[in-house]
Amino acid sequence: MSIRTLDDLLAEGVSGRRVLVRADLNVPLDKQSGDITDDGRIRAVLPTLSALTGAGAKVVVCSHLGRPKGAPDPQFSLRPVAGRLGELLGAPVHFATDTVGESASATVDALADGEVALLENLRFNKGETSKDDAERGAFADQLAAFGDAYVDDAFGAVHRRHASVHDVPARLPHVAGRLVLREVEVLSRLTGEPERPYVVVLGGSKVSDKLAVIEALLPTVDRLLIGGGMCFTFLKAQGHEVGSSLLEEEMVETCRNLLERSEGKIMLPVDVVAADAFAPDAAHDTVPADGIPSKRVGLDIGPETVAGFSAALKGARTIFWNGPMGVFEMPAFAHGTRGIAETIAKTDAFTVVGGGDSAAAVRALGLDESSFGHISTGGGASLEYLEGKTLPGIAALEN
Ligand code: 3PG
Ligand code: MG
Repeated sequence: MSIRTLDDLLAEGVSGRRVLVRADLNVPLDKQSGDITDDGRIRAVLPTLSALTGAGAKVVVCSHLGRPKGAPDPQFSLRPVAGRLGELLGAPVHFATDTVGESASATVDALADGEVALLENLRFNKGETSKDDAERGAFADQLAAFGDAYVDDAFGAVHRRHASVHDVPARLPHVAGRLVLREVEVLSRLTGEPERPYVVVLGGSKVSDKLAVIEALLPTVDRLLIGGGMCFTFLKAQGHEVGSSLLEEEMVETCRNLLERSEGKIMLPVDVVAADAFAPDAAHDTVPADGIPSKRVGLDIGPETVAGFSAALKGARTIFWNGPMGVFEMPAFAHGTRGIAETIAKTDAFTVVGGGDSAAAVRALGLDESSFGHISTGGGASLEYLEGKTLPGIAALEN
């Protein structure tokens, strides 16, 4: 692979040069207060930013936040992120109130050596996510004008064919940042020759999101443990009724087919926590996975399942985990996710936690991040990497 790295760029010297850094600062915000509820992605990009400021670069950071529709939308402003980034860097971050307009130009022009600016949300501009090459290219031209070199440290967005990820590197000397390098290094250990047994735990709400990765992983893994909202479609495929639990009816046949082909590698819950309603204070109890009452909704895996999954995880040498086992944001339905996370943390296996949600779960549940081998900042990106797909952001760096 011919990817140039941040160290290559630093070796050339960046003092006084403007370096455009694409970061993934798409952090979860509290719906009411707008506060950042998990700053993991901001912390993850600090090594790259500090290396650049320390070397005297003028650092111009850009990112998306959420999914605004190509126009400014205050609820998706990066302003709070600029504040938090400044606190973590221990230096003010100059915030531009637009992405490529007057404020951005003035902010970039005013940067002194070793200072950092953050541009407003990339997705306030139609060109960022446009499917039209010319429209994306025109926006990439504007962005590229703010840098003499480009660093991609937005691992969470490398699977997006977006202007800032895919088109800007074609316009500037480009390198991979520290985070992108580390992520790729770790994930390549999983696609190469993982130490066995290799056990994968998948959760989260939708089978349809995970289908490609399940297909790709089945031949490779020794065990595939499935929990979270997506397990109900599999349980249905086994012929069980799932009450009013999350169900992707159109995926049932696909799940049945996967189960048939899985040579017994797929493990499903044997019990679930079923509630009267999707609410933190809903009445609930543990029921067998083949006996979910018709009006109840499964919101977590049950204790017997945690024990069974844990037994499968204990002997593993390599573990990849993506997706919560239940609605961990509600304490009553967090036991499954906590139980699995604690087991993974305690093993001697090489452990990788993939994904926004599972990474946030680790932190929200107060688990020690250092007891995991690697916590990826990319959900979709890490899954697509494991699927063996070409990631537009990585491919762009290779050229
Ligand atoms: C993520 O949160 O998965 C990344 O930041 C990418 O965001 P997206 O799925 O909205 O492209
Ligand atoms: Mg995503």
